[in-house]
Amino acid sequence: MKREIHYELNGNPVTQEVTPETLLLDAVRQWTTAPKEACGVGVCGACTVLVNDQPVSSCLYLAALVDGQTVWTADGLVQRFPRLAQSFVEHEGLQCGICTPGQFTAACALLLENPHPDEATIRHYMAGNLCRCTGYAAIVRSIHGAV
Ligand code: FES
Ligand code: FES
Repeated sequence: MKREIHYELNGNPVTQEVTPETLLLDAVRQWTTAPKEACGVGVCGACTVLVNDQPVSSCLYLAALVDGQTVWTADGLVQRFPRLAQSFVEHEGLQCGICTPGQFTAACALLLENPHPDEATIRHYMAGNLCRCTGYAAIVRSIHGAV
């Protein structure tokens, strides 16, 4: 059975019909293709979005739970964190780009929690976001470069 939910997505009000089983990833991808589905089981971090500025794996999170909440995806976060976005470009923190929305979103969550993380803190915090391409060093440099 469908129900209507209302939430804020990247600063804009959204009204959407969802079922109790609709995943947040599928819901937000009706508006933005930023979060990616890779593993689909909560392991890789490619689908990371922020709910009330907390990172969640949207492939495991029910859309109905964001009724009345705020959701941010990487394409909206680029506007909130332009320096971090620029640093990802300058330090070549992406290659194929599949993991990048999740990496960027997790990095934003880290900077919201700790605006001045050291390298060890960055590596620890980002451990849940997998990347097949960059070898991680460039991603860590990208985040460190924005601190
Ligand atoms: S697609 Fe959600 S954690 Fe991998
Ligand atoms: S840039 Fe390709 S998986 Fe990370």
